[in-house]
Parts: sequence; structure tokens; C-alpha cells
Amino acid sequence: MSMITCPRALSAAFILTLGIAVPALAAPKSYKLPEETATFKPGPQPGFEAARNNCTACHSTDYINYQPGKKGAAFWDAEVQKMIKVYKAPIDEKDAKAIAEYLSQTY
Ligand code: HEC
Repeated sequence: MSMITCPRALSAAFILTLGIAVPALAAPKSYKLPEETATFKPGPQPGFEAARNNCTACHSTDYINYQPGKKGAAFWDAEVQKMIKVYKAPIDEKDAKAIAEYLSQTY
């Protein structure tokens, strides 16, 4: 009896193939993430640090970087307050003030 025609030998070969192929399929794929280009521009403390700690929980810094420049203190103050009041960002008043100050001086 040759190995090819024996059903047992075939299924053994099949299991062996699966045994090799399945771990290869199950191996974690590694994805190359896009470069992290969007970061906060360095600026006056403590707002710079506070922004880094509080303003990336829900979205990237692109949201800040894409705003037209030189919008001023009132704009950034309103923007930070909107994040807190409308979107429920958990940022205390002291940090909110520092962040608005940093943003208005840096963007
Ligand atoms: C709790 C989640 C959350 C946090 C924390 C947060 N944001 Fe947002 N932010 C949002 C949402 C939601 C939007 C609107 C997204 C949309 O419209 O696609 C937004 C949009 C923005 C925009 C785009 C303009 C606008 O008003 O829609 C800016 C600028 C912005 N956020 C700045 C900030 C800054 C500065 C901080 C830190 C003080 C911050 N965000 C923290 C949720 C958050």
C-alpha cells in the first residue's frame, strides 16, 4: 500500500500541514503605524504640559493644529470651555486657564 492512497496517511499529512499553517496564520500581524507628526508646539508652561495631559484624550492635536493661527485668547478660552462643557472633558479650571493661555500664545 503506498502512502498516497492510504486515507490515514492523507489525513495525517493534512493535520501536519494544518499544524504548520495555522500558527503562521494566527501569528500577530505587525502594522506599521503612521509617523506621529501631530504634537503640541512647545510653549509657555504650565499650559504646554497641561495641554499635553488633557487635550489628547479624545482627539489628536490635529484639531488644534488645523485651527487658523492667531485666533487670540477669547477664541482659545471658548474652545477649552466648549471641550469641558459640551464634550465633558474632565479638566479643572486652573488647567483650563493655563491651557487657553498657552494656546493663545502659541497658535
Ligand atoms: C472629552 C473629550 C475631549 C477632550 C478631552 C478634548 N476635546 Fe476637543 N473636541 C472633542 C470633540 C468631540 C470635538 C468635535 C469633534 C468633531 O466635531 O468632529 C472636539 C473638537 C476640538 C477642536 C476643533 C474645533 C471645534 O470646536 O470643534 C479643537 C480646536 C479642540 N477640540 C481643542 C481641544 C483642546 C484645546 C482640548 C484640551 C483643553 C480638547 N480639545 C480636549 C472632544 C474633546
